[in-house]
This record gives sequence, C-alpha cells and structure tokens, in this order.
Amino acid sequence: MSEPVVIVKNVWKFYSYMGQRIAVLKGINMVLYRGDMVCIYGPSGAGKTTLLKILAGLVRPDMGEVIVEGYNLSILDDDALAELRTSIISYIPQDYGLIEDFTVYENVELPLLIMGVSEEERRTIILETLRYIGISEKMNTKVKNLSGGEKQRVAIARALVVTPSILLADEPTANLDWENSKKILELFTRINKDFKTTIVIVSHDARVLEYVKRKYALYDGVLKEQS
Ligand SMILES: Nc1ncnc2c1ncn2[C@@H]1O[C@H](COP(=O)(O)OP(=O)(O)O)[C@@H](O)[C@H]1O
Ligand SMILES: [Mg+2]
Repeated sequence: MSEPVVIVKNVWKFYSYMGQRIAVLKGINMVLYRGDMVCIYGPSGAGKTTLLKILAGLVRPDMGEVIVEGYNLSILDDDALAELRTSIISYIPQDYGLIEDFTVYENVELPLLIMGVSEEERRTIILETLRYIGISEKMNTKVKNLSGGEKQRVAIARALVVTPSILLADEPTANLDWENSKKILELFTRINKDFKTTIVIVSHDARVLEYVKRKYALYDGVLKEQS
C-alpha cells in the first residue's frame, strides 16, 4: 500500500489496580497506510479502547512512540494534541460523545466553531456532510430523540466535518442491531473509498471483519496482524 500515516512503535501502557502495576498494552507495533481500513478485534478488557485513545492522542503511552502524519505525539503538548484532533484525527467514542440536548446541526457544528470557521462556511459544510451521511431530515432534531443508529451517524458526521485523514471509531456497532450495524459499516466503507480516509474500527464483533481491508487481533494487550 501507499504512504504510512500512523506508525506505532513498541507502545506500552500500565494502569494501577489495587496497588499493583498492570500492563494493559504490551509492546504494540503497527503501521497504518493512507486509505487503509482496519479492524482491531478483541474481547472486552483486551485494551482496545486504550489503544484507540493513544492513537487519538487522548491518552499518553508510558513507553514507545506514536507518529501520526509525521507528528510524534509524545513530544506534543496537550494543546497541540487537541489541535490535531480538529484537523487530522477524528475519534468517535463508543458512547458517541454527543450533546443530547443539542440538535443534530448544533452537534455537528461544534468542531467547526472550535476551528473558527465562519457561519456561512459552517452551514455549507454541515449541510453537505449531513446529506452525504443521509441524516439531513433530522437536522433540527435534538440528539436525545434519535435512535442509536441515527446517533452513530451524527457522531460520524461530526467526525467528518474537519476532513480528517484518520477516523477512529470505538465499537461503532456495539449498541446497534445487525441491520443498523451493516448500514454503519457500509457508510465507513463509502467514506474510506470516497475520501481515502484511513479508518480504524475497534470491535469485539467478528462480523465487522468482513468489511475491512486488514485485521488485527488484540488479546491481553498483545496485537497481532491476521491474514
Ligand atoms: N483509566 C483507567 N484506569 C485503570 N484501569 C483502566 C483504565 N482504563 C482501562 N483500564 C483497564 O485496562 C484494561 C483494558 O481496558 P480497555 O482499553 O477499555 O479495553 P477494551 O476496550 O478492549 O474493553 C481493562 O482491564 C480496564 O479495566
Ligand atoms: Mg472498549
């Protein structure tokens, strides 16, 4: 494949549990390429969310390095990491991270407000993105009145408005039935194709594996690529 966009070198993460130091990630190595679409698959407690948050610059590893689009995340301060998340990396948390009392439009607008995009330009980008995602008709609906599948779409729309080169999704199908899960996975496939976005989906659901180009298994903090 083409150029590497994410390089993970010997990443370790420890948490303390009842006074003991427990290794959650044990020397993770991984390279993701432009236009890649991968699934990190593994059971609950394997370290998937921790790894995804490290890729997003939300959690710092205790050892090792993560290089994203040439930026070494370990030498960036918190402000610089936050800026990367409004330009290069979009992270979609498992619980969507939406503001329930805001409308769909207002939620999707937030990253653009942070970036200082003008009102007129915001409107153009939001309308175009909602149309692409297929949720325009819910634009003025409050998020608390949406179904799980719709909330996941809004979370994807909010992640897309910054035109990220890397999209990270934590268990995007965990709260959905299989019909809705398929629609979300098809949407990720379309985004990957249309924008060459590098997509990482973390999941404990083996059915997700059919939709990706490459697969990694994460068991007990150890990552292995699967053929
Ligand atoms: N902030 C934290 N403090 C202490 N332990 C944590 C923290 N985050 C995760 N863990 C522990 O690390 C392990 C891996 O968690 P996580 O990355 O959420 O796994 P997964 O997403 O695969 O279920 C679990 O045993 C969890 O309890
Ligand atoms: Mg998790």
